[in-house]
Amino acid sequence: MSVRTATASAAVAALLGGCALLPAAQAQAAGAKDGPVVFAHRGASAYAPENTLAAVDAADRLGIDWVENDVQLTKDGVLVVVHDTTLGRTTDAEQVFPSRAPWAVKDFTAAEIAKLDAGSWFGAAYAGARVPTLTQYLHRVERNRQKLLLEIKSPETYPGIEKETLRILREEGWLDRGHVKHRLIVQSFGAESVKAVHDRRPDVVTGFLGTPAVADLPSYAAFTDQINPSYTTIGADYVAAVQKLKGPHGKPLQVNTWTVNDAANAAKVAGFGVDGIITNNPDIVRDATR
Ligand code: G3P
Ligand code: CA
Repeated sequence: MSVRTATASAAVAALLGGCALLPAAQAQAAGAKDGPVVFAHRGASAYAPENTLAAVDAADRLGIDWVENDVQLTKDGVLVVVHDTTLGRTTDAEQVFPSRAPWAVKDFTAAEIAKLDAGSWFGAAYAGARVPTLTQYLHRVERNRQKLLLEIKSPETYPGIEKETLRILREEGWLDRGHVKHRLIVQSFGAESVKAVHDRRPDVVTGFLGTPAVADLPSYAAFTDQINPSYTTIGADYVAAVQKLKGPHGKPLQVNTWTVNDAANAAKVAGFGVDGIITNNPDIVRDATR
């Protein structure tokens, strides 16, 4: 049993026994190492509007290095950071552009999207927050010295999005050795999209979002370094089956699971031996797994 697994198992045992989670000091005294890497999902999206610069800063204030985001293309080919393929849930697009149903991201220019309020739906304190372009987003992550788990969202909707994503990453200095080695992962639910990124830039760390059958994992290992499944679909056996394989960089495949927002499930998946946990509540997950 690894140190990480042992620590997480202790946390699970404590939870099951109705006790408090293993305190950090106690874990350290026991010689425990760090738990799974914590990724702030859409930024620290429990505390600030998802995928905004405020959510990046909220993660930073919590001391969280890694932020996850979602990237899509506007009508005029600009990469913007937004989760849904339509703008209605997280912006005021329906009020600002009432005749533009269904308010698809791909039907709006970057200038139009820049006018939208992406914060008021979350809380009045965030009124006026914008949908960032990927460039703006990268500047903020860089300013905070954070790291990026970038998701290419709905790649089938946006032919060429991989090439444009890599172009912007390169332009902003995110494909230099330091970023590629330590500060960037590109993931997608689209296997073809992950492959396209890997083919264009084999040095970039990639992740496939989903839970492929164990028998199919070797074919994924040819182009992805990570298998990133929903936490509801995995157990310790699946995690071990993934980690047994080596990815395109000759290292064991990793597992980052999502979206775990409570202490009990965080401790549970840490006990499965996952490498990372993607969460809206990074503070809760960190405290539950250390
Ligand atoms: O990073 C994992 C997670 O973001 C995948 O789901 O729908 O939140 O993008 P979704
Ligand atoms: Ca995502």
